[in-house]
Amino acid sequence: MSTPKVAIVFYSMYGHIQKLAEAEQAGLKKVGINADLFQVPETLPEEVLTKMHAPPKSTYPTIDPATLETYDAFLLGIPTRYGSFPAQWKAFWDATGKQWATGGFWGKYAGLFVSSAGLGGGQESTSIAAMSTLAHHGIIYVPLGYKPAFPILTNVSEVRGGSPWGAGTFAASDGSRQPSALEIELATIHGESFGTAIKKVAF
Ligand SMILES: Cc1cc2nc3c(=O)[nH]c(=O)nc-3n(C[C@H](O)[C@H](O)[C@H](O)COP(=O)(O)O)c2cc1C
Repeated sequence: MSTPKVAIVFYSMYGHIQKLAEAEQAGLKKVGINADLFQVPETLPEEVLTKMHAPPKSTYPTIDPATLETYDAFLLGIPTRYGSFPAQWKAFWDATGKQWATGGFWGKYAGLFVSSAGLGGGQESTSIAAMSTLAHHGIIYVPLGYKPAFPILTNVSEVRGGSPWGAGTFAASDGSRQPSALEIELATIHGESFGTAIKKVAF
């Protein structure tokens, strides 16, 4: 039995999802999994990104379908757009027709983490929207559930993103809010619990 190969694949325009991705990576490391981070390719022109006040992209490599196929499991970081996933995320998956036809992703495992401007902005609907892509590829969704983070998920005294669907953060409408210590903790627990869950499967 070998250690599963895990890719953390994210799209992040303003850096919030990237911070959660790095916390997820730290959580996986706690259970002995050295996950690789990848960005979903940008589809918007520079001119539009400038108008949207998007900072320069980080140096993490971009993902392509063939590279993703070499991994056993994925943690997918998705910022909410109108209560669903962004076009960049969809554009990546729309390029995976070969894997759909050949079953290249079938039986692999995935978890999700999200970011939205605020409460009610669509963290859970974004996760639910992503389910269809996972189902069509035969990718097995691994939720966070309550067990690994029960005290955090049941505590309503502090505003925080995330749910039993996976970790999450609130960025505020102008992007000014950064992931809180609690949200980073939840993302770390998410990475750790995802790693623990997939290590139960023989690779
Ligand atoms: C076009 C657009 C649509 C958005 N739609 C939503 C939305 O429906 N609900 C919400 O809470 N936030 C919405 N947001 C805010 C983003 O979710 C937020 O910028 C993102 O989560 C920040 O993550 P990032 O820094 O990793 O890009 C939207 C942002 C943009 C640019």
